[in-house]
Amino acid sequence: MVYSLATHPHHAHYPPPWFSIAPMMEWTDNHYRTLARLISKNAWLYTEMLAAETIVYQKDNLDRFLEYSPEQHPIVLQIGGNNLENLAKATELANPYKYDEINFNCGCPSPKVAGHGCFGVRLMLDPKFVAEAMSVIAAHTDVPVSVKCRIGVDDHDSYNELCDFIYKVSSQSPTSHFIIHSRKALLNGISPAENRSIPPLKYEYFYGLLRDFPDLRFTINGGINTVEEVNAARRAGAHGVMVGRAAFNKPWHTLGHVDTVVYGAPSSGVTRRQILEKFQVYGDTAVGKYGRKPTVRDVARPLIGLFHSEPGNSQWKRKADAAFLHCTTMKEFFDETLVAIPDYVLDKPIGEPPSGSEDPFANIHSLLPPAYESRELELQYA
Ligand SMILES: Cc1cc2nc3c(=O)[nH]c(=O)nc-3n(C[C@H](O)[C@H](O)[C@H](O)COP(=O)(O)O)c2cc1C
Repeated sequence: MVYSLATHPHHAHYPPPWFSIAPMMEWTDNHYRTLARLISKNAWLYTEMLAAETIVYQKDNLDRFLEYSPEQHPIVLQIGGNNLENLAKATELANPYKYDEINFNCGCPSPKVAGHGCFGVRLMLDPKFVAEAMSVIAAHTDVPVSVKCRIGVDDHDSYNELCDFIYKVSSQSPTSHFIIHSRKALLNGISPAENRSIPPLKYEYFYGLLRDFPDLRFTINGGINTVEEVNAARRAGAHGVMVGRAAFNKPWHTLGHVDTVVYGAPSSGVTRRQILEKFQVYGDTAVGKYGRKPTVRDVARPLIGLFHSEPGNSQWKRKADAAFLHCTTMKEFFDETLVAIPDYVLDKPIGEPPSGSEDPFANIHSLLPPAYESRELELQYA
């Protein structure tokens, strides 16, 4: 049976996954997610990718990798891997942590990852394996499963090949939710960062999938930077919108509008001073939890963009760099650095969202690729 995300029993009491924060290695760690949740109550959070092998080999040490505080719900665990046995074990080991969904990484182009045989985005070339992996993951958990992928790899970049991937994975496994980073990956040795900017975005492929697979759910990802664009993507039909870099680089200006503008909630009136007071309490329990790690610098890292484009921002960052060298608690760190930020900045709630930006999806339905006709369907009707 095909579950819709919104009606799956485990999802019923959550806000709909209209807005999610992308999985980002070394960025969406516990510290960042704590900050993100203090700013938005409704955003769905994703972990960094965890390799199935890491979970399996660290099974006596799992809290360090998998623990999070209950406020972080709804939260999705992203795993990566290419070994069915390890994917099964990893899923089982993660069950007690009660993630709300398990997502499988089929989009990472990093050679470190891709070099391990077939891992990350290379898996898009082997939909049969992805379907097996998803079936194995689903068999070892009772929460929904989803796939995050790109729109193609190297010259396997036609709309039809993308549809074949989606068709095979969704018909041969219990996967009904796909997150589409709407550019292809190049495996020719360009860096992971270049692989997030050089291949062009093709949102028309995403909206083609919505048209051609009406029983599945699709979340759009890639290059979406403001809540206005999030709403525009949803107006054009996307079930969900996932934002990565903008949510990390400008957490306040992006996430600060999510509950009101995307979810229609009344403004909470929360200020950055209040958020930082709570973050400090969290931070002082986190610092040094595992011996020398994490450091104040590790815990404070997600704050780097909190004052983006505000008066005092560059002075605050300079003070932060100096403070990292000797501060041993978050309290010390804030006492030493926040003097750079004017009180009115710290005490003002998020304002109106910027408006009047262009709608990148306004014309998208006139640009769609020709409808998908699966070869299997052709055979069936021949
Ligand atoms: C630092 C960094 C790390 C990332 N790590 C992952 C990851 O672990 N798993 C994954 O599926 N995508 C990863 N991505 C890709 C993002 O999830 C997202 O697909 C991509 O950044 C495009 O969205 P954006 O334009 O909104 O940033 C990463 C991106 C960045 C910038």
